[in-house]
Amino acid sequence: MASRHKQIISLLADGAFHSGTELATALGISRSAVCKHLHTLVERGIELYRVPGRGYRLARPIELLDPEAILNAMHPGARRVLSGLEIHAEIDSTNQYLLRKLPSGLASGYACLAECQNAGRGRCGRHWVSPFGCNLYLSLLWRFEAGFATLGKAGLVAGSRTVRALEAIGVNGVGLKWPNDLLWRGQKLAGILIDMVGELKGPCALVVGIGINVAMPREAALSIDRPWTDLATITGGVVDRNRLAGCVLDSLLEGLGEFERSGLGPSLQDWEALDETRGRWVALQVPGGEGVRGIALGITERGSLRLLVDGRLQEYEHGEVTLRETAYE
Ligand code: BTN
Repeated sequence: MASRHKQIISLLADGAFHSGTELATALGISRSAVCKHLHTLVERGIELYRVPGRGYRLARPIELLDPEAILNAMHPGARRVLSGLEIHAEIDSTNQYLLRKLPSGLASGYACLAECQNAGRGRCGRHWVSPFGCNLYLSLLWRFEAGFATLGKAGLVAGSRTVRALEAIGVNGVGLKWPNDLLWRGQKLAGILIDMVGELKGPCALVVGIGINVAMPREAALSIDRPWTDLATITGGVVDRNRLAGCVLDSLLEGLGEFERSGLGPSLQDWEALDETRGRWVALQVPGGEGVRGIALGITERGSLRLLVDGRLQEYEHGEVTLRETAYE
């Protein structure tokens, strides 16, 4: 995002009306240039009202991401483990960005956040809707010695730790759907995408990408094709994104550190306590394979899903689970 766009957003961030002339004077550009920039911002998903005679205002005030506020929201112990923190106004994908930066030797605990992603990635090749300034898009790098076997397990750690971070800001009732979807009353609140590069059985780097719907604009959400919710709906109020980011980083850094030292044990119990699917009928779509139906029976120590299919206990490492309300014949 051009620096002009950032300046305009900062001027409008208070949610009050600002005339075109006022914005033009503040930026030292013409009114028509202001109009052009505002048009681009609307195209990027920013909700803007224009009232003749009064000017422009954001649909709701934006609290921009601020590194200092995020660090202030973190515990000193977690701050020490954080090896770097980058905040971008616009990026393709925070996961993709850290993957690109890996060869420069980033250390464990390096985090990247963005106000918006123009190519946000979801699981199973889906797009992650990432409009400007209203949600949380966060990626964290962690290096492991244990190879790709870590992948599924670290995903579980990330899932349960994100739920605990939400609880720390007062959001309760969030559960998990394998492998790491965060649900509230059956609607998706947040998703986690893990990317991994390195050796199958040796050193590897893991990028944990978390997207949390904080105050998703209705317009931007039109392209989401499954039930979803956001923190604004759940809490009925405004959520401080910097505090949320600080709590998510606290919880993740602590969880990944614990996982590295002591294995999955503690997080596995935590995940099971938050499991929304246990004992329920589900459909599982295996990537590139057929759909399977069965009763979800929790997860294994490797992070796989346990499913009772036609009376036989099966384990699945990958796939997309859909909850079924009624039993199959
Ligand atoms: C899912 O499909 O449930 C996973 C969504 C993960 C979205 C996050 S947003 C931050 C990070 N960057 C991305 O491109 N994706 C993840």
